[in-house]
Amino acid sequence: MKATLNPYNPGAGVPPPELAGRDDLIESARVAVVRAKTGRPAKSALMLGLRGVGKTVLLNHFEAIAETEGCQTALLEIDPDKPLAQQLAPQLQHILHRLDRIKKAGADMQKAFGSLRAFAAMFKATVGDVDFGFVAPAATGDLAIDLTDLFVAIAEAAKKRDTAIVLLIDEIQYVQKGDLSALIMALHKISQRQLPLLLFGAGLPQLAKLAGDAKSYAERLFDYPPIGPLSAEGARQALAEPAAREGVKYSKEAIDYIIDQTGGYPFFLQVWGAHCWETAAKSPITLTDAKQASIAAVEALDEGIFKVRLARLTERQKAYARAMAEFGPEPVNSSDVANAMNLSLSQAAPIRDELIKKGMAYSPERGLIGFTVPKFDEYLRRQPSGKSKRPTKS
Ligand SMILES: Nc1ncnc2c1ncn2[C@@H]1O[C@H](COP(=O)(O)OP(=O)(O)OP(=O)(O)O)[C@@H](O)[C@H]1O
Ligand SMILES: [Mg+2]
Repeated sequence: MKATLNPYNPGAGVPPPELAGRDDLIESARVAVVRAKTGRPAKSALMLGLRGVGKTVLLNHFEAIAETEGCQTALLEIDPDKPLAQQLAPQLQHILHRLDRIKKAGADMQKAFGSLRAFAAMFKATVGDVDFGFVAPAATGDLAIDLTDLFVAIAEAAKKRDTAIVLLIDEIQYVQKGDLSALIMALHKISQRQLPLLLFGAGLPQLAKLAGDAKSYAERLFDYPPIGPLSAEGARQALAEPAAREGVKYSKEAIDYIIDQTGGYPFFLQVWGAHCWETAAKSPITLTDAKQASIAAVEALDEGIFKVRLARLTERQKAYARAMAEFGPEPVNSSDVANAMNLSLSQAAPIRDELIKKGMAYSPERGLIGFTVPKFDEYLRRQPSGKSKRPTKS
């Protein structure tokens, strides 16, 4: 079949040809946005899921919805090496300029700009071209207080202009601990004052725990929709619809086989779909095509993302990951991993923490550790250096 017509789009944050199986999530986001814009209480949401489940795609989609509904948006991906204030300030400035364009000046705008200027100076953030060299009296240097003031000033200006602010933050698990608690406190104030400012965040599953540790009321402040693999029906749509638009069908056996091989993970569905398209000579794509494509897909993943991810690890991190992989795909007790490596818990814990920091692993609950990339365990077990026998869980 023609490579030029291959509809699938495996990648990071790239729009899929069919955004399948997420209708309920999208509708809840739309409802929250419209409620915020019309001055009604609305809940911020943190979407949690493993690598490649489609979190970034959803954030982009929510941004488009918010823009269509007439909100002012800012989307940022957290850089783990930078303080949150420096990453937020330029985005908030952009929003303020947009609010200013809706309705000029006024005391509220002056207050908001002044608040931003003081904030930027205090936290050494570059705003536009100007690096403010002075500290305006309004900023205290306590991020929780200053970010709250800034959010309130901006949200009040938005309210006066009958619009809402929608912040979209990707990789939010990388926000530094103190910054995360400041962000949560600022949003808490916004929610108490019923001001039109919403946050949609996306991150790895440890985020719920991080947010809860930072502020215990975080559980009530946010919705935490889990973003997982697609249902069988969603996965079928993700594969079949894009092909159907090019006049190509799949046999039912082929679809079932791909769903089984990919576990319904959106990134894998795109990879498998693309390889099926390359493999099959004509429509319909058969089980034989799917099996052959599956071999090519696994090879491509091994040589592509898996190999690169493994190469980012130090030797002792690799050893830890290999030991984890022997237990299979589900999160495992970190004491079992330590035992398998003949290390004490306190010797193994720093290595586990390094893997978490690198975004390779996450802890769904205390004591458990799992891979953030689905199928990474299988890859490690396929490697010659990995042991072949699976130890039993204690
Ligand atoms: N609902 C969906 N249906 C079909 N394909 C999807 C869907 N959501 C995402 N995809 C595809 O899956 C791939 C991964 O999406 P995305 O980058 O948004 O995942 P992610 O959760 O942000 O991953 P990461 O944690 O690595 O950033 C992309 O190729 C995207 O087009
Ligand atoms: Mg992403």
